Amino acid sequence: MTAPRKVLTDAMVAQIEALAPRYPNRRALTLPALHIVNAELRYVPLEAVVEVAQVLGLAPAEVQDTLTFYQFFHQEKPHGKVRAFVCRSISCALRGGDELLERVCSSYGIRPYGTTPDGELTIEPAECLGACDFAPCILANDDLLKNMTPESATAELSKPRARAT
Ligand code: FES
Repeated sequence: MTAPRKVLTDAMVAQIEALAPRYPNRRALTLPALHIVNAELRYVPLEAVVEVAQVLGLAPAEVQDTLTFYQFFHQEKPHGKVRAFVCRSISCALRGGDELLERVCSSYGIRPYGTTPDGELTIEPAECLGACDFAPCILANDDLLKNMTPESATAELSKPRARAT
């Protein structure tokens, strides 16, 4: 007998199951399932890992292995409603990306990877966002913010933004 679910809702499980026909086996659903959980909770706690494993018929360690392979997923606490990735790869670094990260974080009183006390914004360094023409740039949820300065980035990140993770 499997333990009752505590974290995954029926809706989350239904979303996972709806994707199943697109994948060759249930193991291949691991990453999409983690994204579904993350989209709802803004993190993937260990309890969710165990429950995803139950749904997929895998060992929890297999799901945890996949999760920890990527830096994308937070496991301790939810990230902000807006998650801003500040590029620190070469094109952006040459155009002030490191200073951009430091100054935008400091304008919100947080460190890189930190979340504002109101839970609205998390700022994280990121590798190339594939938009080197617009360096330095930031991906804030689904919005690409181009040619940023510390001032313009702070102003942009203060605007309401559609939620996506
Ligand atoms: S180096 Fe920043 S987007 Fe490519």
